[in-house]
Amino acid sequence: MTAAGATPAGHREPADLLSPDRFAALSGLLEHHYGLYFDVSQRTALSAALRDRVRELGLARVDDYCDRIRTLDARARDAELRAAVNLVTVTETCFFRDPAQFRLLKEHILPALLAAYAGRPADAARTLRIWCAGCATGEEAYSVALLLWDMGLFLAYPDWTFHVVGTDLNARALEAAARGVYSARAVRGVSPEYLSRYFQKIGTTYRLNDEIRRRVRFEAGNLTKTPLRAPASAPQDVVFCKNVAIYFRPDAVRRLVASLAETLAEGGYLLLGHSELLPGVPRGLELVEYQGAFCYRRVTPPHPAVKAVERRRIAHPKAGPAVAVTAGPPVAAPQAVPAEGPAGLAVRDDEYERCLDVFRSGDWAGAETRLRVLVAAHPSFVPAHLLLGGVFAHHAQYDAAVAQAEQVLALDALEPRAHLLLGMVAARRGQRDDAVALLRRTLYLNDALVLAHFWLGNLYRDRGDRHRARLEYENVVRAWERGTLDLTEQYAADLTAAQLVAFCRASLQSLAPRE
Ligand SMILES: C[S@@+](CC[C@H](N)C(=O)[O-])C[C@H]1O[C@@H](n2cnc3c(N)ncnc32)[C@H](O)[C@@H]1O
Repeated sequence: MTAAGATPAGHREPADLLSPDRFAALSGLLEHHYGLYFDVSQRTALSAALRDRVRELGLARVDDYCDRIRTLDARARDAELRAAVNLVTVTETCFFRDPAQFRLLKEHILPALLAAYAGRPADAARTLRIWCAGCATGEEAYSVALLLWDMGLFLAYPDWTFHVVGTDLNARALEAAARGVYSARAVRGVSPEYLSRYFQKIGTTYRLNDEIRRRVRFEAGNLTKTPLRAPASAPQDVVFCKNVAIYFRPDAVRRLVASLAETLAEGGYLLLGHSELLPGVPRGLELVEYQGAFCYRRVTPPHPAVKAVERRRIAHPKAGPAVAVTAGPPVAAPQAVPAEGPAGLAVRDDEYERCLDVFRSGDWAGAETRLRVLVAAHPSFVPAHLLLGGVFAHHAQYDAAVAQAEQVLALDALEPRAHLLLGMVAARRGQRDDAVALLRRTLYLNDALVLAHFWLGNLYRDRGDRHRARLEYENVVRAWERGTLDLTEQYAADLTAAQLVAFCRASLQSLAPRE
């Protein structure tokens, strides 16, 4: 550790910027306690988020804040970290975010659960539990309650108890949730009838009526605590955990999904955000698709002797019926790859195919090991750099992914897949303007790379530019219909072209022009 604010070279950071070692220490604590991952590109953003707290404590430098936390005893440190979390978590949300998933809840999940429970003995408790984990300021949990109310379930099933609980790490967000008063932006997805029926307009704000508010309970909770405690410590019928794990590293996402799966009742449903579905279906869950929206359902874990069906695929309309994909055969360990020369090139190409197979089987660590050997032997072999870059990007190792893209651009400045990789990394890092520019450049070089349209669609949608977002999603669907879609599988993990198109169609429905 260096003196406060000073780098090893003696250069002093500005008072409001964490020095690299303090950034590493503080981001390490936030990740350890809450799963929140900040990569080095977020040093300025993390420092800025903490500025008010630093001032409130009368400290001169943001580095002093980090040092102070580290001198506190465990209890005081936890309290201070909780205060920090209120400042550094992203609580962006709105009512009926992702309408396709609410349609899935209304038209598929709730009817299925009610039908299954109706078959229970009359004396069995009829309780339906819905948990919004990482609920931020409450819009998601209230949207669920609004839906239940509007479906008439509270009246039609008087002998049932419906528990809707929202939990979050951010105490300030939970206070706002309990108030139930929202901005016009938060209610932008609420239909005019719901708005007039269930909200009271007060000045520029919208207050949710008490009848709906009292149907939802809010509690503090950390989703990375093990063992994970669900509300009331009871099995849950539906768990929403959307746009929480986007701030976690892939291993933490896998652990979170496994813990959430454990909290589900048999036949219970888990709904994640678009970008949070995992490669391969986790053990004990099956993937359910309903009109372009996806969720997991808890099933009895398969007997170990039965080969696990990894996931269901939706077939291309022209490619015959849906197929289930099983894990492929084990792949041989990496070998030294001979250098260039005709024989060497044939071996190189075979080895690349093997890397692709390993990557497709979901064994990214195995693919990475083989690819490192391959690029060392063939430093100008572009496909290996791109695939290795894709593997790094999936692991959120963004600097390493960028380095691979840059090596490719040094060989061929117009390689569109390298620009695409840079664009996707910028988007994941939240560098939105850079991402838009890079993705546009990608499409200028090759318009068939639909992942660029897809990411641009997401970026425009997040900016509220519905028109442009629609155009981008339409491009994906059109490429699929024309048969010109190029998935760039090295960046799509196990997302199939059909799933990508289904996402885009669902997004198009949710972005349909309002009447
Ligand atoms: C972007 S909001 C998502 C809100 C809502 N689920 C949605 O999709 O609109 C992410 C929320 O996750 C919460 N969060 C992040 N890490 C968490 C953790 N370890 N435990 C509980 N909540 C967490 C944050 O405080 C934030 O309110």
